[in-house]
Formats: sequence, C-alpha cells, structure tokens
Amino acid sequence: MGIGETAIGHKGAGQWVLCKADDSAQPIHLSSMEGQIGPDVVDMRGLYKQAGVFSYDPGFANTAACQSAITYIDGEEGVLLHRGYPIEQLCEKASFTDVAWLLSHGELPDAQQKVRFEQGLMAEAHLHEQIRNFFNGFRRDSHPMAMLCGTLAGLSSFYGNQGADQRHRITPEEREMSTLRLVAKMPTLAAWVYRYSRGLPLIYPRPGLSYAENCLHMLFSMPEAPWAVNPVLARAFDRILILHADHGQNVSTSTVRTVGSTGVNPFACIAAGVAALWGPAHGGANEAVLDMLDEIGTVDGIPDFMNRVRNQKDGTRLMGFGHRVYKKLDPRAGLMRRICHEVLAELGMDHDPRLELALKLEETALNDEYFISRRLYPNVDFYSGIILRAMGIPSSMFTVFFAVARTAGWVAQWKEMLESRPGISRPRALYVGQTRRDVPSSYGAED
Ligand code: CMC
Repeated sequence: MGIGETAIGHKGAGQWVLCKADDSAQPIHLSSMEGQIGPDVVDMRGLYKQAGVFSYDPGFANTAACQSAITYIDGEEGVLLHRGYPIEQLCEKASFTDVAWLLSHGELPDAQQKVRFEQGLMAEAHLHEQIRNFFNGFRRDSHPMAMLCGTLAGLSSFYGNQGADQRHRITPEEREMSTLRLVAKMPTLAAWVYRYSRGLPLIYPRPGLSYAENCLHMLFSMPEAPWAVNPVLARAFDRILILHADHGQNVSTSTVRTVGSTGVNPFACIAAGVAALWGPAHGGANEAVLDMLDEIGTVDGIPDFMNRVRNQKDGTRLMGFGHRVYKKLDPRAGLMRRICHEVLAELGMDHDPRLELALKLEETALNDEYFISRRLYPNVDFYSGIILRAMGIPSSMFTVFFAVARTAGWVAQWKEMLESRPGISRPRALYVGQTRRDVPSSYGAED
C-alpha cells in the first residue's frame, strides 16, 4: 500500500500521457473526449489493459460515468440546463409535463404531442386495485418513503417487463410505456401513501385537472368535499416539480443507471432511486431544514446554532446549504425563494415566523467567513420545505414529492442508459484487507 509517484501530462490534440515519474517504463497514452460544453474528460478505458492499474476516485467526484445529453450543470457559474434550456426559462414558460417530455424526448412537445402525452398520463394515473392491499401491510406510522419504496418495487409485479423480448431485453416500446406509466402513477402512489398514513379514504385521479392539480386533489380532497383548485398554489407546486425534475448524475440518478444496467425492470430501478433519495444528505434535506428551523426556534437561537456549525464538533450542518457541484448559488434556490414569497403571500402568511427565521439564517450564513471560505450557498432544499409546509403538506412527505418530480429525470436517464448499451456497472476497489490466509485447522472442530 502507499502512494506512488505518477505523472500525467497533456501532449496536446486531446492526447494525455501517464507514466511513473521515476521509471523508464513505457508511458501510457490516453485520449481525451470533448463534451459539447464543460470540461473534457480523459478516457480511462484503456488504463488497466495498458498499465495494469485502476483509477481511484471515491465518491466519483472526478469521474464521468456516462455520456449524457439530458442535463448540463456548471457548478462554478451556477448554470443548470435541461436539453440546453436554462432552468429559469423552463420554470417560467413550461409546465412540469412539458419538462418531463423534454427530458425523455430531447425537445419540448409540440401542441399535439402535449395533448397526447397529457391524455396518456391521465389514462395511466390509476393504480391496479390490488395495490390498495399493499398498504395494509405497513404500520400507519411508517415513514412515507418506506411505503413509497416498497409499493413502487411491488408495481413491477403488475407492470414489469411485459414488453420484454424473448431474451428479456427491454424493448423500445416497453421503455416508452414504462416512462409514461411511472411518471403517471407516481402522484397517485405518493398521495395514497399519505392518505394511508392518516387513515383517510384513498382518492382517485380526476380527469380535467393538471398534473400538479391532481397531486393536490389526491392529497387534500375528501369524498364529500373536493379540493378547491387554487391556481396560484397549483402553479407553485408545478414549478417545484420542475425544479426537482432532474439534476444530472447525482446519487439517486447514478443509482437508477447502475441498477438499470443489470436489465432489471424500470419499477425496481426507480425504487432503488427512491431509496437513494431518502438520505438526509440528498432528498431528505428539505425535511431536515424544517427540523433544523424548529430546533433553532427563533432568530435569537441563530448565534448559538451557528457556533455549533462552525465548531464542527457534533456534526451539526446548516441544512439546505452547500452542494457537491454548485460552488455558487444553486440557480434553483433563487427561484424557490421567489415561489416561497408568492405562496406565503397567497396564503396570507407573509409574516410567517419560520420564513423570517430562514431569511435571517440565510443572510447570516452568506456573510459568515465559515460559509464564504467554503463556498457554501443555499441549495434547492432551503426554501422548498417552507413552501410545502405552508401548503399543508407534512414534512415527512417532502421527499416523497421530490421523488415524484425526479421520476421524470430518472426515467429519461434510464432510457438514455439503455440506448447507449453500456454493459453492467462494476467499479473496483483498492483492496486494503488481509492477504490470503487459511482458516485455523482448529476452527469449527467440536470440543
Ligand atoms: N453546513 C456546514 N458545513 C458544511 C456544510 C453545511 N451544510 N456543507 C459542507 N460543509 C463544510 C464541511 O464540513 C467541510 O468543511 P471542512 O473542509 O472544514 O471539513 C466543507 O464544507 C466541504 O464539505 P463536504 O462535505 O466535503 O462537501 P460535499 O460537497 O461533499 O457535500 C453536501 C455536499 C450537500 C453533502 C453538504 O454540503 C451537506 O451536507 N449539506 C447539507 C445537506 C443538504 O442540504 N443537502 C442537499 C443537497 S442539494 C440536493 C440535490 O441537489 O439533490
């Protein structure tokens, strides 16, 4: 074990050379690949064959694991493009279903495609009636993400691999159908998770409502009192879905691609993505932001809390701040802040103490040397929890709706992965365990 001296040099014209610095051995020649925008990548595929070594990049922070035409992120400049379109423009001009189509098909839908896609989503929004029975197996106080993960994987027993060919490959028709089904059924599943946890009657999707309106209808309607459509809240919810629809090769998306590379059915892939999203360092952060605000209590609690963060003693972090990729403001965070003000104004909650606390906390952090020197800015989760809570959605459901939105990205990435036929994902490890040894001859012998 140990760190050897290796030199990597750019020879120009997309050629890189890698050699042991103190060695006369043959250098290894690697070529680089150019993206449309963003940094080039060094093609490491010939590394082991040429040199008998692997590259080491835990967390894959420096590794491109695929080629993708879906989402481009420039973390240094705070840029997020889906199929080339800036997130700010999509958020203003498109609906979530337009963005879901865009992610999967590469272009915004034309008028006819839009109508057909929305009709298809409505037709597929229902769940098989037997799925109602799944819920009875869960405790009412189960975490909604546990129920979502379990029932989603269970959907494969109704809809999985029905279009696979004789060699169990997922055909293009099956990919299209699964993409539609998953995006269509997620709001119903999400709403039913919530209704079951509250012991409320399960509500069915209603034709004539938009995707976002249906999400809110299935959450809040009662059989005798349908949810009264509020266009401001519905549009805000739609934009929250847009802001969460895709974000490149994050951990849940990489999980979907990795699991999908085995050829397993898409419901199992998306269930794996949901599991990855559940963690507090990823999709669970919006729930953690509200817990943190509750813990801080009032603006008077900010100095104490900030001291704990700065001291890094008990692992306290300012939730909703920092990002693996963005080293400038996450462009989604600014949009989310605007939506937050709009929703609270609509609900007559402009002076909500939690919003005032969040604004003060944000201002304090943005002027604090600890955060400035580490380039930590608010991320998409800092304000989303405040909005959802104000709309009456309990915090345990936040990540569930993140998953509803991200399904649009997951299925697009899953389809792109299958179309590129990458072979099964199989990283390596630098082995640091015991060398070969024998089980002691006395082991297992009876006394
Ligand atoms: N609060 C306090 N300190 C932080 C924070 C934070 N939120 N984030 C990073 N740091 C510090 C960290 O302690 C470290 O300090 P030092 O260099 O002194 O050891 C430095 O900043 C770098 O941290 P890191 O953990 O190496 O950074 P990372 O890029 O691996 O972590 C992160 C990214 C999102 C996991 C992290 O910023 C974090 O835990 N944030 C809070 C949770 C959160 O909001 N997550 C949602 C992310 S956005 C969701 C999405 O896009 O899907």
